[in-house]
Amino acid sequence: MKEHRFGGDWTTQKLEKVRKYLAAYTKIFASNPRAQRLSTIYVDAFAGTGYRTKTPNLDDGQTPHFSELVEPEAEKFLKGSATIALEVDPPFKEYIFIERDPEHARELAILQHRFPKRVITIIPQEANAYLQKWCTETDWDVYRAVVFLDPYGMQVGWTLIEALARTKAVDLWILFPLGVAVNRLLTRKEPPLEAWAQSLTRIFGTRDWEEAFYPKRTERSLLGEEEVRTKQADFNTVGRFFVERLKTVFTAVAENPLPLRNSRDVPLYLLCFAAGNPKGAPTALRIAKHILSK
Ligand SMILES: C[S@@+](CC[C@H](N)C(=O)[O-])C[C@H]1O[C@@H](n2cnc3c(N)ncnc32)[C@H](O)[C@@H]1O
Repeated sequence: MKEHRFGGDWTTQKLEKVRKYLAAYTKIFASNPRAQRLSTIYVDAFAGTGYRTKTPNLDDGQTPHFSELVEPEAEKFLKGSATIALEVDPPFKEYIFIERDPEHARELAILQHRFPKRVITIIPQEANAYLQKWCTETDWDVYRAVVFLDPYGMQVGWTLIEALARTKAVDLWILFPLGVAVNRLLTRKEPPLEAWAQSLTRIFGTRDWEEAFYPKRTERSLLGEEEVRTKQADFNTVGRFFVERLKTVFTAVAENPLPLRNSRDVPLYLLCFAAGNPKGAPTALRIAKHILSK
Protein backbone atom coordinates (compact mmCIF):
# COMPACT_ATOMS: atom_id res chain seq x y z
CA MET A 1 0.00 0.00 0.00
CA LYS A 2 1.36 3.43 -0.94
CA GLU A 3 2.09 5.65 2.04
CA HIS A 4 0.12 8.88 2.35
CA ARG A 5 1.16 11.02 5.30
CA PHE A 6 -0.81 14.06 6.28
CA GLY A 7 -2.30 15.74 9.30
CA GLY A 8 -1.98 14.88 12.96
CA ASP A 9 -4.30 13.96 15.83
CA TRP A 10 -6.70 16.60 14.60
CA THR A 11 -7.11 14.58 11.38
CA THR A 12 -8.83 11.83 13.36
CA GLN A 13 -11.07 14.47 14.94
CA LYS A 14 -11.93 15.94 11.53
CA LEU A 15 -12.73 12.61 9.93
CA GLU A 16 -14.86 11.52 12.89
CA LYS A 17 -17.01 14.68 12.56
CA VAL A 18 -17.54 14.08 8.85
CA ARG A 19 -18.28 10.37 9.43
CA LYS A 20 -20.97 11.21 11.97
CA TYR A 21 -22.63 13.60 9.54
CA LEU A 22 -22.56 11.10 6.67
CA ALA A 23 -24.12 8.41 8.89
CA ALA A 24 -26.92 10.76 9.98
CA TYR A 25 -27.47 11.92 6.38
CA THR A 26 -27.93 8.47 4.82
CA LYS A 27 -30.12 7.37 7.72
CA ILE A 28 -32.49 10.29 7.09
CA PHE A 29 -32.65 9.55 3.36
CA ALA A 30 -33.31 5.85 4.02
CA SER A 31 -36.08 6.46 6.56
CA ASN A 32 -37.96 9.39 5.03
CA PRO A 33 -40.39 8.20 2.26
CA ARG A 34 -40.17 11.53 0.38
CA ALA A 35 -36.39 11.58 0.53
CA GLN A 36 -36.24 7.97 -0.69
CA ARG A 37 -37.20 9.18 -4.16
CA LEU A 38 -33.93 11.08 -4.36
CA SER A 39 -30.49 9.58 -5.03
CA THR A 40 -27.63 10.44 -2.72
CA ILE A 41 -24.04 11.10 -3.79
CA TYR A 42 -20.94 11.47 -1.65
CA VAL A 43 -18.17 13.48 -3.28
CA ASP A 44 -14.65 13.48 -1.90
CA ALA A 45 -12.87 16.14 -3.93
CA PHE A 46 -9.37 15.76 -2.48
CA ALA A 47 -9.78 12.07 -1.89
CA GLY A 48 -6.19 10.96 -1.18
CA THR A 49 -5.57 7.19 -1.24
CA GLY A 50 -8.37 5.97 1.02
CA TYR A 51 -5.85 5.50 3.83
CA ARG A 52 -3.33 7.53 5.76
CA THR A 53 -0.09 6.55 7.38
CA LYS A 54 -0.17 7.39 11.04
CA THR A 55 3.01 9.21 12.04
CA PRO A 56 3.56 10.17 15.68
CA ASN A 57 3.94 13.90 16.39
CA LEU A 58 3.10 15.00 12.87
CA ASP A 59 1.07 18.10 13.47
CA ASP A 60 1.94 20.74 10.93
CA GLY A 61 -0.15 19.58 8.00
CA GLN A 62 2.94 19.16 5.85
CA THR A 63 5.09 16.22 4.88
CA PRO A 64 7.42 15.79 7.86
CA HIS A 65 11.14 16.38 7.45
CA PHE A 66 11.72 13.90 10.24
CA SER A 67 9.91 10.98 8.61
CA GLU A 68 13.17 9.04 8.42
CA LEU A 69 13.23 8.99 12.22
CA VAL A 70 10.02 7.02 12.38
CA GLU A 71 10.40 3.27 12.69
CA PRO A 72 8.30 1.56 9.99
CA GLU A 73 6.91 -0.80 12.66
CA ALA A 74 5.53 2.16 14.59
CA GLU A 75 3.45 3.21 11.61
CA LYS A 76 -0.13 2.21 11.20
CA PHE A 77 -2.51 2.62 8.33
CA LEU A 78 -5.63 4.47 9.37
CA LYS A 79 -8.76 4.95 7.33
CA GLY A 80 -8.97 8.04 5.17
CA SER A 81 -12.17 9.88 4.25
CA ALA A 82 -12.95 7.75 1.17
CA THR A 83 -12.84 4.48 3.13
CA ILE A 84 -14.80 6.00 6.00
CA ALA A 85 -17.53 7.16 3.60
CA LEU A 86 -17.72 3.74 1.93
CA GLU A 87 -18.26 2.09 5.32
CA VAL A 88 -21.25 4.29 6.16
CA ASP A 89 -24.38 2.20 6.50
CA PRO A 90 -26.90 2.67 4.91
CA PRO A 91 -24.61 3.66 2.04
CA PHE A 92 -24.83 6.55 -0.41
CA LYS A 93 -26.25 5.55 -3.81
CA GLU A 94 -23.07 6.79 -5.52
CA TYR A 95 -19.53 7.80 -4.57
CA ILE A 96 -17.31 10.16 -6.56
CA PHE A 97 -13.64 10.35 -5.57
CA ILE A 98 -11.61 13.12 -7.22
CA GLU A 99 -7.85 12.90 -6.95
CA ARG A 100 -5.30 14.69 -9.11
CA ASP A 101 -2.27 12.59 -8.15
CA PRO A 102 -2.27 9.51 -10.44
CA GLU A 103 -0.60 7.29 -7.82
CA HIS A 104 -3.22 8.24 -5.24
CA ALA A 105 -5.98 7.65 -7.78
CA ARG A 106 -4.58 4.15 -8.47
CA GLU A 107 -4.78 3.38 -4.75
CA LEU A 108 -8.38 4.58 -4.70
CA ALA A 109 -9.18 2.11 -7.48
CA ILE A 110 -8.36 -0.72 -5.05
CA LEU A 111 -11.34 0.41 -2.98
CA GLN A 112 -13.61 -0.64 -5.86
CA HIS A 113 -12.52 -4.25 -5.21
CA ARG A 114 -12.78 -3.91 -1.43
CA PHE A 115 -16.31 -2.49 -1.67
CA PRO A 116 -17.82 -4.31 -4.68
CA LYS A 117 -21.39 -3.38 -3.72
CA ARG A 118 -20.71 0.37 -3.77
CA VAL A 119 -21.09 2.45 -6.94
CA ILE A 120 -17.74 4.26 -7.10
CA THR A 121 -16.42 6.61 -9.78
CA ILE A 122 -12.82 7.76 -9.58
CA ILE A 123 -11.97 11.01 -11.33
CA PRO A 124 -8.21 11.51 -11.77
CA GLN A 125 -8.54 15.24 -12.40
CA GLU A 126 -8.23 18.68 -10.86
CA ALA A 127 -11.07 19.11 -8.38
CA ASN A 128 -12.13 22.74 -8.99
CA ALA A 129 -12.55 22.32 -12.74
CA TYR A 130 -14.23 18.91 -12.55
CA LEU A 131 -16.70 19.87 -9.81
CA GLN A 132 -17.82 23.11 -11.40
CA LYS A 133 -18.81 21.16 -14.51
CA TRP A 134 -20.42 18.44 -12.37
CA CYS A 135 -22.54 21.08 -10.62
CA THR A 136 -24.03 22.27 -13.91
CA GLU A 137 -24.46 18.79 -15.45
CA THR A 138 -26.09 16.91 -12.54
CA ASP A 139 -29.89 16.72 -12.45
CA TRP A 140 -30.64 18.28 -9.07
CA ASP A 141 -34.30 17.29 -9.28
CA VAL A 142 -33.09 13.75 -8.71
CA TYR A 143 -29.87 14.02 -6.70
CA ARG A 144 -28.75 15.32 -3.32
CA ALA A 145 -25.07 15.32 -2.35
CA VAL A 146 -22.60 15.77 0.45
CA VAL A 147 -19.30 17.24 -0.78
CA PHE A 148 -16.16 17.06 1.33
CA LEU A 149 -13.36 19.46 0.35
CA ASP A 150 -10.24 18.44 2.23
CA PRO A 151 -7.26 20.18 0.60
CA TYR A 152 -3.76 20.56 2.07
CA GLY A 153 -3.79 24.31 1.49
CA MET A 154 -5.44 27.01 -0.63
CA GLN A 155 -6.52 24.79 -3.53
CA VAL A 156 -10.25 25.56 -3.30
CA GLY A 157 -11.29 28.66 -5.23
CA TRP A 158 -14.38 30.68 -4.33
CA THR A 159 -15.94 30.01 -7.75
CA LEU A 160 -16.23 26.34 -6.78
CA ILE A 161 -17.96 27.21 -3.51
CA GLU A 162 -20.41 29.41 -5.42
CA ALA A 163 -21.11 26.65 -7.94
CA LEU A 164 -21.81 24.14 -5.15
CA ALA A 165 -24.14 26.57 -3.37
CA ARG A 166 -26.00 27.34 -6.60
CA THR A 167 -27.13 23.69 -6.92
CA LYS A 168 -29.32 24.17 -3.79
CA ALA A 169 -28.78 20.45 -3.31
CA VAL A 170 -25.30 20.13 -1.82
CA ASP A 171 -24.26 20.03 1.83
CA LEU A 172 -20.65 21.08 2.15
CA TRP A 173 -17.91 20.16 4.61
CA ILE A 174 -14.81 22.20 3.93
CA LEU A 175 -11.43 22.47 5.55
CA PHE A 176 -10.46 26.14 5.47
CA PRO A 177 -6.64 26.50 5.66
CA LEU A 178 -6.66 29.19 8.34
CA GLY A 179 -3.28 28.95 10.07
CA VAL A 180 -1.54 26.64 7.63
CA ALA A 181 -1.82 29.05 4.69
CA VAL A 182 -4.21 32.04 4.80
CA ASN A 183 -2.86 33.69 7.94
CA ARG A 184 0.70 33.26 6.65
CA LEU A 185 -0.16 35.46 3.67
CA LEU A 186 -1.59 38.19 5.88
CA THR A 187 1.58 40.14 6.52
CA ARG A 188 1.70 42.22 9.69
CA LYS A 189 3.01 45.69 8.87
CA GLU A 190 1.13 46.32 5.63
CA PRO A 191 -1.23 44.48 3.25
CA PRO A 192 0.42 41.66 1.30
CA LEU A 193 1.98 42.16 -2.11
CA GLU A 194 -0.20 41.65 -5.16
CA ALA A 195 0.49 37.94 -5.86
CA TRP A 196 -0.47 36.99 -2.29
CA ALA A 197 -3.39 39.42 -2.35
CA GLN A 198 -4.72 37.67 -5.45
CA SER A 199 -4.48 34.25 -3.76
CA LEU A 200 -6.49 35.63 -0.83
CA THR A 201 -9.09 37.12 -3.17
CA ARG A 202 -9.36 33.76 -4.97
CA ILE A 203 -10.12 31.91 -1.72
CA PHE A 204 -12.51 34.55 -0.29
CA GLY A 205 -14.14 35.47 -3.62
CA THR A 206 -13.86 39.18 -2.83
CA ARG A 207 -11.20 41.82 -2.24
CA ASP A 208 -13.13 43.02 0.85
CA TRP A 209 -10.74 41.10 3.10
CA GLU A 210 -8.29 43.96 2.59
CA GLU A 211 -10.54 46.56 4.24
CA ALA A 212 -11.67 44.05 6.88
CA PHE A 213 -8.17 42.98 7.94
CA TYR A 214 -6.26 46.19 7.13
CA PRO A 215 -8.57 49.12 7.94
CA LYS A 216 -7.04 52.52 7.15
CA ARG A 217 -5.95 54.34 10.31
CA THR A 218 -4.33 57.70 10.84
CA GLU A 219 -1.35 57.82 13.15
CA ARG A 220 0.41 60.87 14.45
CA SER A 221 4.18 60.88 14.16
CA LEU A 222 6.91 63.48 14.48
CA LEU A 223 6.39 64.32 10.81
CA GLY A 224 2.66 64.87 11.18
CA GLU A 225 -0.27 62.60 10.42
CA GLU A 226 0.30 59.44 8.49
CA GLU A 227 -2.08 56.84 7.04
CA VAL A 228 -1.19 53.30 8.13
CA ARG A 229 -2.62 49.91 7.18
CA THR A 230 -1.27 47.37 9.64
CA LYS A 231 -2.97 44.02 10.14
CA GLN A 232 -5.91 44.28 12.53
CA ALA A 233 -7.04 40.66 12.32
CA ASP A 234 -6.40 37.55 14.40
CA PHE A 235 -7.34 33.92 13.66
CA ASN A 236 -10.81 34.58 14.97
CA THR A 237 -11.41 37.58 12.66
CA VAL A 238 -10.19 35.67 9.62
CA GLY A 239 -12.26 32.55 10.40
CA ARG A 240 -15.32 34.68 11.06
CA PHE A 241 -14.83 36.46 7.72
CA PHE A 242 -14.82 33.12 5.86
CA VAL A 243 -17.98 31.93 7.64
CA GLU A 244 -19.68 35.23 6.72
CA ARG A 245 -18.62 34.70 3.11
CA LEU A 246 -20.18 31.20 3.11
CA LYS A 247 -23.38 32.76 4.41
CA THR A 248 -23.62 34.98 1.32
CA VAL A 249 -24.13 31.94 -0.94
CA PHE A 250 -25.35 28.96 1.12
CA THR A 251 -28.81 28.54 2.66
CA ALA A 252 -27.45 27.88 6.16
CA VAL A 253 -23.96 27.85 7.67
CA ALA A 254 -22.76 26.50 11.02
CA GLU A 255 -21.60 29.41 13.17
CA ASN A 256 -19.38 27.08 15.21
CA PRO A 257 -16.71 25.80 12.80
CA LEU A 258 -14.18 23.54 14.49
CA PRO A 259 -10.58 24.84 14.78
CA LEU A 260 -8.12 22.00 14.26
CA ARG A 261 -5.09 22.94 16.34
CA ASN A 262 -1.53 21.67 16.39
CA SER A 263 0.39 20.97 19.59
CA ARG A 264 1.31 24.68 19.84
CA ASP A 265 -2.40 25.53 19.81
CA VAL A 266 -2.27 27.14 16.34
CA PRO A 267 -5.57 26.64 14.47
CA LEU A 268 -4.13 25.11 11.30
CA TYR A 269 -7.55 24.59 9.74
CA LEU A 270 -11.20 25.38 10.38
CA LEU A 271 -13.68 22.61 9.65
CA CYS A 272 -16.75 24.41 8.29
CA PHE A 273 -20.23 23.24 7.33
CA ALA A 274 -22.78 24.77 4.96
CA ALA A 275 -26.17 23.42 3.86
CA GLY A 276 -27.52 24.12 0.38
CA ASN A 277 -31.02 22.71 0.14
CA PRO A 278 -33.63 25.11 1.55
CA LYS A 279 -35.96 22.29 2.69
CA GLY A 280 -33.24 20.16 4.24
CA ALA A 281 -31.14 22.99 5.66
CA PRO A 282 -32.72 23.34 9.13
CA THR A 283 -32.22 19.63 9.94
CA ALA A 284 -28.80 19.52 8.28
CA LEU A 285 -27.64 22.56 10.24
CA ARG A 286 -28.95 21.25 13.55
CA ILE A 287 -27.10 17.94 13.08
CA ALA A 288 -23.85 19.57 11.90
CA LYS A 289 -23.82 22.15 14.71
CA HIS A 290 -24.34 19.40 17.27
CA ILE A 291 -21.51 17.31 15.78
CA LEU A 292 -19.17 20.33 15.66
CA SER A 293 -19.89 21.29 19.25
CA LYS A 294 -19.06 17.92 20.84
C1 LIG B 1 -5.17 16.12 2.66
S1 LIG B 1 -5.14 15.02 1.33
C2 LIG B 1 -6.75 14.32 1.40
C3 LIG B 1 -6.94 13.31 2.45
C4 LIG B 1 -8.25 12.55 2.37
N1 LIG B 1 -9.41 13.44 2.44
C5 LIG B 1 -8.31 11.50 3.46
O1 LIG B 1 -8.94 11.73 4.51
O2 LIG B 1 -7.74 10.43 3.26
C6 LIG B 1 -5.30 16.03 -0.10
C7 LIG B 1 -5.30 15.25 -1.43
O3 LIG B 1 -5.72 16.15 -2.46
C8 LIG B 1 -4.98 15.88 -3.64
N2 LIG B 1 -5.03 17.13 -4.41
C9 LIG B 1 -4.29 18.27 -4.21
N3 LIG B 1 -4.68 19.24 -5.05
C10 LIG B 1 -5.71 18.72 -5.78
C11 LIG B 1 -6.57 19.26 -6.80
N4 LIG B 1 -6.43 20.53 -7.19
N5 LIG B 1 -7.51 18.46 -7.33
C12 LIG B 1 -7.66 17.18 -6.92
N6 LIG B 1 -6.88 16.61 -5.97
C13 LIG B 1 -5.92 17.37 -5.40
C14 LIG B 1 -3.60 15.48 -3.15
O4 LIG B 1 -2.95 14.67 -4.12
C15 LIG B 1 -3.95 14.71 -1.87
O5 LIG B 1 -4.07 13.34 -2.14
